[in-house]
Parts: sequence; C-alpha cells; structure tokens
Amino acid sequence: MSALGAVRGGVNRVLRPFGVQVVRGHSDDPAIQPYVSARRTRAAARRAGVSVEDYLDRWSAAPGATAETVDALLRLADLGEHVERVCEIGAGSGRYAARVIAATHPDTYEIYETAEDWLPHLRSLPNMVEQPTDGHTLSATATESVDLVHAHKLFVYIPLVVTLGYLDEMARVVRPGGAVAFDVVNENCLDDAMTKNWVSSGATIYGMISRTWLLDRMAQRGMSLLGSHFIPLSGGQTELLVFRRV
Ligand SMILES: C[S@@+](CC[C@H](N)C(=O)[O-])C[C@H]1O[C@@H](n2cnc3c(N)ncnc32)[C@H](O)[C@@H]1O
Repeated sequence: MSALGAVRGGVNRVLRPFGVQVVRGHSDDPAIQPYVSARRTRAAARRAGVSVEDYLDRWSAAPGATAETVDALLRLADLGEHVERVCEIGAGSGRYAARVIAATHPDTYEIYETAEDWLPHLRSLPNMVEQPTDGHTLSATATESVDLVHAHKLFVYIPLVVTLGYLDEMARVVRPGGAVAFDVVNENCLDDAMTKNWVSSGATIYGMISRTWLLDRMAQRGMSLLGSHFIPLSGGQTELLVFRRV
C-alpha cells in the first residue's frame, strides 16, 4: 500500500463511525467535506443484500432513520397539493431525495453535490437537475423559486462559516410560504452519552451550533420554526429543524 493509501486508511478508520471517508481526488477546499466512496458503498450494499439507501441507513444512522426523517419533514412542512421545485444540498446517495420525490412528485428536483462519484447514481432520479456546485452557494437557483430547500447530515460537519453562507442562500431561494429544513448538532443533542462517544472516538469531524442563536438568526431572515425532530446519527443524534418562510 502507498504511503498516501496508508494515511487515507488511518484517517478513514477514525471517520468510519461518522459516515464519511476520504476518497481519491477529493477537493482541498475546506468547505467541501469528503463522503463515502460510491463504488465501495454500492459493493458493500450488494454484499449485504440491501439497497444502497438501506445500507447507509444502517451504517451511518439506524434502520429506518431516512424514512422517519422524510416523514417528519413533510408532515411539518405541509407543502400542499402541487410541489413545483425542490432543492437539496449534499444529497449524497440520494436516500432522502428518492423518498421526497416519491411523496411529492416535484416538477424539478435540484441537487447541489460535491462528490462527483455519486452523481451518476443521482442522475437516475426523476426530474433531477444537477446544479453546478461550488461548495458554498446555490448560485444557479433563482431567488424565491423553490417550495422546499433541505440538507441532511451536512451542517454537522462542514465549517460553520460555510453553513452560515448556505443558510443565507436557503433563505434567499425559498419562496414565501415555502419550507427550509436541515439538521444540526445543538445543545439539545449533546447529552452525556453523545459527548462521551465523541471524546472516546476522537470525533473531531463534528461541530455544534447553538439552537437559540440559530433560531434568532433564521427569524431575522423571515423563517418561522414549524417544528423539529431528533434523528439518530452513529454515536448520537441530530435535530432536524423545519421552517416556514413567512
Ligand atoms: C455526511 S454526507 C450526507 C449525505 C446525505 N445527505 C445523507 O445524509 O445520506 C454530506 C454530503 O454533502 C456533500 N458535501 C460535502 N461538502 C459539501 C459542500 N460544501 N457543499 C455541498 N455538498 C457538500 C458530501 O459529498 C455528501 O454527499
């Protein structure tokens, strides 16, 4: 094994419980965080005899976590009869996208994704539009154009400043009456068990964001909280927050 391969293997052992891996050819922009290899994940899912979505459900969270997240999101967002346009940041394997599309049948499902090896898989989703992704903005999406903009397990591990930029972008692109949804690690998630797990496994990858500060910031941008839901994540949990653009 090459020296680079050995380093990558060591880093990946540390990152393994958190659902990410360093892959060859990854960007050196600190905003763009690595994700599991599409090829290896597909192979592992095949060996386990389950779909990629179910494999990731079990591996990085808990069986059923994806379905539970989407159900809670759509119940809280209450998008109405006709959904024209949905936008997702960091769709990864498309496990949320597939369920949101099946439930809402949007005319267009925009995806911003930095992991190029997952794009062929994502392209097979109905009405999917792959947007040029710079890792910071939703620059290809028009202002006030989407019914729902969402992201999952993204704002738990990208730098805070990048999350803040994306939150401003989400507030920009959502139409009045539309919904914004994402999960974060906040003070409601960090109980003793979770912090012990973080410390013992050296989970330097995660970042926490203050809930009250975040809600104030969203309110300043016209976002009112509709509700929230706790989602399992290996070694702990995140809080899914769903907002309505007033
Ligand atoms: C931890 S994964 C979660 C994937 C998927 N949302 C899920 O929960 O299964 C984060 C995803 O965001 C992508 N990503 C990382 N940094 C990004 C950035 N700056 N902008 C957009 N996507 C990013 C990764 O490639 C990966 O697909």
